[in-house]
Amino acid sequence: MDAKFLYFLSFNFSIFIFTVAFTPQDNCLIISGSSKDNVLIDNRLFIGDLSKKISGYLSEGKSFAVKNPSTSSNSSGLHSSARIFTSASSYRFKIKNVGTHLVRLHFYPFVYGNYDLRNGNFSVLANGLYLLSNFGVESPVMKEFFLMVDKFGLDIMFLPSNFAFVNGIEVFSVPKDLFLDDDDEIPLISDNGIQEFNNITSYVLETVYRVNVGGSIITPFNDTLWRTWIPDEDFLVLKSASKVITTLVPPNYQPGGANRDHAPDNVYMTAREMNVANGSWTLFNITWDFPVSSEDDTYFVRLHFCDIVSVSLNMLYFDIYINGIIAYKDVDLSVLAFHELASPYYIDFVVKNKKDSDVVRISVGPSELSTLRKNAILNGVEIMRIVNVVVPRQKFVMKRIWILVVCVVGGFFALSLSVLAIFAVFKYRKRKQKPRRTESGTISEGITLASPGSFGYYGWKIPFADIQLATKNFDKNLIIGSGGFGVVYKGVLTDNNKVAVKRGVPGSRQGLPEFQTEITVLSRIRHCHLVSLIGYCEEQSEMILVYEYMDKGTLRQHLYGSNSSPLSWKQRLEICIGAARGLHYLHTGFAQGIIHRDIKSTNILLDENYIAKVADFGLSRSGPCLNESHVSTGVKGSFGYLDPEYFRRQQLTDKSDVYSFGVVLLEVLCSKPAVDPLREQLNLAEWAMEWIKKGLVMKIVDPRLVGQIKPSCLKKFGETAEKCLSEYAVDRPTMGDVLWNLERAYQLQMNEQENEQDEMGSRRVVPEVPSMNVDANAENNRGNSEVSTSGVFSQLITRKGR
Ligand SMILES: *[C@@H]1O[C@H](CO)[C@@H](O)[C@H](O)[C@H]1NC(C)=O
Ligand SMILES: *[C@@H]1O[C@H](CO)[C@@H](O)[C@H](O)[C@H]1NC(C)=O
Repeated sequence: MDAKFLYFLSFNFSIFIFTVAFTPQDNCLIISGSSKDNVLIDNRLFIGDLSKKISGYLSEGKSFAVKNPSTSSNSSGLHSSARIFTSASSYRFKIKNVGTHLVRLHFYPFVYGNYDLRNGNFSVLANGLYLLSNFGVESPVMKEFFLMVDKFGLDIMFLPSNFAFVNGIEVFSVPKDLFLDDDDEIPLISDNGIQEFNNITSYVLETVYRVNVGGSIITPFNDTLWRTWIPDEDFLVLKSASKVITTLVPPNYQPGGANRDHAPDNVYMTAREMNVANGSWTLFNITWDFPVSSEDDTYFVRLHFCDIVSVSLNMLYFDIYINGIIAYKDVDLSVLAFHELASPYYIDFVVKNKKDSDVVRISVGPSELSTLRKNAILNGVEIMRIVNVVVPRQKFVMKRIWILVVCVVGGFFALSLSVLAIFAVFKYRKRKQKPRRTESGTISEGITLASPGSFGYYGWKIPFADIQLATKNFDKNLIIGSGGFGVVYKGVLTDNNKVAVKRGVPGSRQGLPEFQTEITVLSRIRHCHLVSLIGYCEEQSEMILVYEYMDKGTLRQHLYGSNSSPLSWKQRLEICIGAARGLHYLHTGFAQGIIHRDIKSTNILLDENYIAKVADFGLSRSGPCLNESHVSTGVKGSFGYLDPEYFRRQQLTDKSDVYSFGVVLLEVLCSKPAVDPLREQLNLAEWAMEWIKKGLVMKIVDPRLVGQIKPSCLKKFGETAEKCLSEYAVDRPTMGDVLWNLERAYQLQMNEQENEQDEMGSRRVVPEVPSMNVDANAENNRGNSEVSTSGVFSQLITRKGR
């Protein structure tokens, strides 16, 4: 049976058997044209291809061994001998370990009799696929490739035009988690924006650059995969834009993050950051240009990060641009790298370069989320050219899914075929998230950590026993909510973290699609205004999701129904801005976006500081593809919040969320439910819109807020809600516009307050951003929105700090 299958079966055990240094299962290191048995190079033993110890490597075809005349007779390095090929012939490697292998070809041209190796011209093929064509070298060169090898072995063929040569070959298997497995999507950056790239391991990758940003050269001796990392200085576009930062403290590797096989310590212990004094507000990027051929090639780009600049968590937010296109917005290493500082992490991209563009340009610059300090960092870069497709994708995937389906059937036999297929893919994804290293493989007792995908996945699988313990075996007194999916309990995990435990009705797998959606969506995305998934459990036919606990419950319970102290207007604005920010992120933050589909005041939760987070992604859907304008789907969602157009035409767009959010804005303003059961099912949106359209928005304001709201702010807020509730989706603003307008409303509220304070002679709070003083044009000038945004945001932060 397929080795991958065994690997899958041993999921729970294999994590205990790793050793610290990587030892490849397949490991063939050859010196061409030599008869030496054991030659130590960078701590590894190479073997001459004429050694009696090996046989069967060379196929028929004409080739002969030559010694480098300019080296001494007992010298044994890769430069001291070569094999010259005068007709097509191959090295054949037996392969034990199916999977990605690294192939290095060493070329040290020298002159031997009539053969000046610098004149050689030839092609090299691996299992019939061209690695190099019409190739020749003037000076020593090493070519490195990553390729998938199956059980039939690896055949490296030299195909001479005049003659071919090689001085040495390395073939070894690489750690399974070095590259993502077949189903994971990597963002594909091109002129068409961001799409998805699948199945990276089925392509041959040729290393073009491997760079230790801010550091010096790292030789194979100091790298677990014997790689060479070069300094980055020559690639900087503007050297003075950045400065080197180094640490002496070894990286804080986290299970699931990057490990030493992704890059050695030295890569993560040096970086470049923005060359500015602490607390500067200057905005610029650090940019590197990596020269590449001007063909329209596609490259795999891996960026390595390790936050060695921050003194505490959540200080560093930056954006990544590739070829001038935003590739990753608001990188938050604190979250991605498991809430640890100096914890290594990498992010992969695929870049399609235009013909005639002869660089891959990488920039990092501060994100608009940065408040305390503007900065951006980069620790390492790898750029690999994608050579060709090895395995037709369809066939490959089908085979895997079939195998997995067999596994799954053993566990849940009564499932319908479609559910089963979803589940197979899900299982399959999960297998890939297995952590490779286990030095600290458990977070708290019994909770094993899964590893991240390219977007920072870290769903933990939590044993059922731990959840029973956390919820005192689902004690009725700990119930904090219930809904279509099941019951929500408050709980405390063994690590003392408070959590919310959402338990599907045991035994019934009805909510399975929602369960899967929630895990898939929440594991891909992470944002300070989206409720985080801490883990899940699917033992004993249970479906349980574990979230961060939100101390202050739902927004709804603070608006009406209870007599506790009402939220102030400022708090309400901040909550709306936070929720809008989360929703805006869902719509725009990841590839083609996610539509929530069930925005309502019970799905907006508040933490102990009344920071709003959007929750409940069970109904969410990926947004429409670029060439479609909507997703057709059965009507789901909650009464009173439903987009009328969606209801009529069953077409879902992100504007449906905007409509529902408009209803939430009215709830916040009026402190009335979306549908009032006490008043003959009165529909809040219809009722409130009548007043707003008459210009009488003040008549519907929660009486407890009277006197708190500045008229200009109320006007802006009312207009925003009105636009959200437009009958037709095209007339509604995007969530980005809604966010901007709410921030504007907040500014109007706050600035008038400040002015009043001035008049009263009290000390004015000096804003952190100069442009906080509202520029008269700001409202009509979208170009200023970034500045205004950070201004408002810094006030939110300030409030928390007080
Ligand atoms: C390996 O790294 C250490 C520490 O950075 C350095 O002192 C040493 O020279 C390196 N060895 C080689 C062969 O590069
Ligand atoms: C950083 O580079 C990107 C892409 O070229 C550009 O759009 C952005 O405005 C730059 N940011 C700053 C602050 O210059």
